[in-house]
Amino acid sequence: MEKLTVLITNPTVPIVAIKEMEEKGYNIKIVNKEDRAEILQKLPGTHGLWWASQLKLDKEILDAAGPQLKMIGVMSAGYNHVSLDELKKRGIKASNTPNVLNDAVADVAVLLSLAAGRRMTEARWAIENNQWVNNEWKWMVGQDVRNSTIGIIGLGGIGFTTARRFKGFDVKDILYTGHKEKKEAAELGYKFVDLDALLAASDFVIVAVPLTAETQGFCDAAFFKKMKKNAVFVNISRGPVVDQPALINALKTGEIFAAGLDVMTPEPLPPDHELLKMPNVVVLPHIASATNHTRDGMAILTMQNLHRGLTGQPLLTPIVE
Ligand code: DGY
Repeated sequence: MEKLTVLITNPTVPIVAIKEMEEKGYNIKIVNKEDRAEILQKLPGTHGLWWASQLKLDKEILDAAGPQLKMIGVMSAGYNHVSLDELKKRGIKASNTPNVLNDAVADVAVLLSLAAGRRMTEARWAIENNQWVNNEWKWMVGQDVRNSTIGIIGLGGIGFTTARRFKGFDVKDILYTGHKEKKEAAELGYKFVDLDALLAASDFVIVAVPLTAETQGFCDAAFFKKMKKNAVFVNISRGPVVDQPALINALKTGEIFAAGLDVMTPEPLPPDHELLKMPNVVVLPHIASATNHTRDGMAILTMQNLHRGLTGQPLLTPIVE
């Protein structure tokens, strides 16, 4: 029987998963670095594609692979960088890696809420600039989480896990908005409200929606104007969900208190970017899912899906079937 070839677009994928694919009888090819030209060059003849990259997975990539390409394992929860229509046209199946990263990303949602609310960037700069003040009672005071209202936009797996984390902080209310009310959320006391009500009431606003045509630019100038002046804005979804100039303006003019961002535009953020010079912004380099356990889980799920897709079994976490 012909040995099927799987191309992995990232050399740092856990070696255990690669070994297991080899043991299952696949011929594995690996791209040495995140380099579109190298991916294009190695693609011809590939049956399965392990897409461990935020590069666009589009017509050019699929054309380069050839008609034998049958299955793509996208190694992220978000798949806004994948042209689903092109896959459907060609009958190519695809999977992503939801849920395995809920805990790690929810941890970062909490981390950014606390860090931005407690003025982490500014506090650190004060030490570095020899401006540590000892005799001012309310120096560097920030926002309390206890008794606060948490507003979560998008109560999917990540949003839900984030809500659960916040319960442990003795918050007053957990509000959420989205397409529909969720029964299991109501049972836990989370309140389903419309966006305006959420923005008007929340002390921490956490964005956990996927990037789609509907959510692109969703957090715009009008959105920030509706937030409370003491409120902290946290984004753990995708940068383009936010109208970034509008966010920067809201932070500069005091329309909102602070922001914690794991995602932004562009990524990687240039080191001289304005966001990095703002005292009321905490920025992370899109590392919310970056824990050993989570990254291994994402690799194993991708591997399982690829094998299932290439052997005619139903995918565990399909995005195109
Ligand atoms: C995801 O999986 O979507 C995370 O943002 C990591 O890219």
